[in-house]
Amino acid sequence: MTKKTDRPTNLLAKFDRRVPPYTSYPTAVQLTPAVQGDRYRAWLGEPGPTPPLSLYFHIPFCDNLCWFCGCHTKVVRRYAPIATYLDLLLRELDLVADRLPGRHRVCHVHLGGGTPTILAPDRVCLFGYAHVPWMKKHQRLIDEARLPDAAERFAQYLAAAERLQEAGYLWIGLDHFARPGGDLAKAARDQTLRRNFQGYTTDDAPVRLGFGPSAIGMLPQGLVQNEVSMKAYRDAIEAGVLQVARGLALTADDRLRGAVIERLMCFLEADPRVFAGDLAALQEMAADGLVEIDGWRVRVTEAGRPFLRTACAAFDSYLEPDAVRHAQAV
Ligand SMILES: C[S@@+](CC[C@H](N)C(=O)[O-])C[C@H]1O[C@@H](n2cnc3c(N)ncnc32)[C@H](O)[C@@H]1O
Ligand code: SF4
Repeated sequence: MTKKTDRPTNLLAKFDRRVPPYTSYPTAVQLTPAVQGDRYRAWLGEPGPTPPLSLYFHIPFCDNLCWFCGCHTKVVRRYAPIATYLDLLLRELDLVADRLPGRHRVCHVHLGGGTPTILAPDRVCLFGYAHVPWMKKHQRLIDEARLPDAAERFAQYLAAAERLQEAGYLWIGLDHFARPGGDLAKAARDQTLRRNFQGYTTDDAPVRLGFGPSAIGMLPQGLVQNEVSMKAYRDAIEAGVLQVARGLALTADDRLRGAVIERLMCFLEADPRVFAGDLAALQEMAADGLVEIDGWRVRVTEAGRPFLRTACAAFDSYLEPDAVRHAQAV
């Protein structure tokens, strides 16, 4: 019989796989140069209703560099480069507005990237540290020998989750903790919670437009990502061209799978009956009590919550087994 103390290590060995964080489905790694600016401009201009818009502005500047930072940001000591950059964002905003067929209401604005996000006091995000010193040289300041191993990371994650819940926070999805009275907790209770590139959110706009280098837009027709390098982005905007580096047109299958994955990530349950063939992939998790399958319904249990991404991966038709491009699930 398995000793109780062995259990987390066994579960990690079996289910801590290299899977995406599912902030979208299909995920950002599926975007390809097959979708370029001409398609983005056409998508923006396609006639149809004028839904409310959500706007994401990427602001890749920080006052100080956090040692652990794995984000695309730049430390600036003067405000002038930021002011110049804001002018570019405004020009991009004009280029997008020129393409839109009518007037839209803006229902959500998110400033992201480097600007330290002022966390709303009603929520805490608990992320596992991604140590990538080959990409982020400043992370070499962190002594690798002192970093916890997988079992210790898992224990820290569970301990932090327990402390936050004792302090009155509700555990939302994979890694967010919300005060019971706040918007996020309310959205979780009302089943209106959403998940996008900004994590768990109350933003349910059908069109999310991204501004700035590397920003990702999510339109009903598909996903688009701006040029990642500041230079390529600046050159395009200064030339007055609304450009994207890559994108993906969504298929009906993508939309259905995306809906199942988003429901699982938000509410830990879904009814994936059109993908009945994929349920077999969850049997191993079910045998370990991490997932319950009742007819067509799938429910991830509390014990399975840390492995939520692995459960979602059962419905991901793009995933290559153990692709090294993704971080471990826990
Ligand atoms: C795009 S980042 C930065 C947003 C904002 N500047 C901030 O620090 O909150 C989004 C999240 O990733 C976290 N993060 C940054 N570097 C990380 C790393 N190496 N491993 C895990 N999370 C990281 C940040 O703490 C932040 O919560
Ligand atoms: S982007 Fe966020 S994590 Fe990175 S240095 Fe800036 S504030 Fe710190």
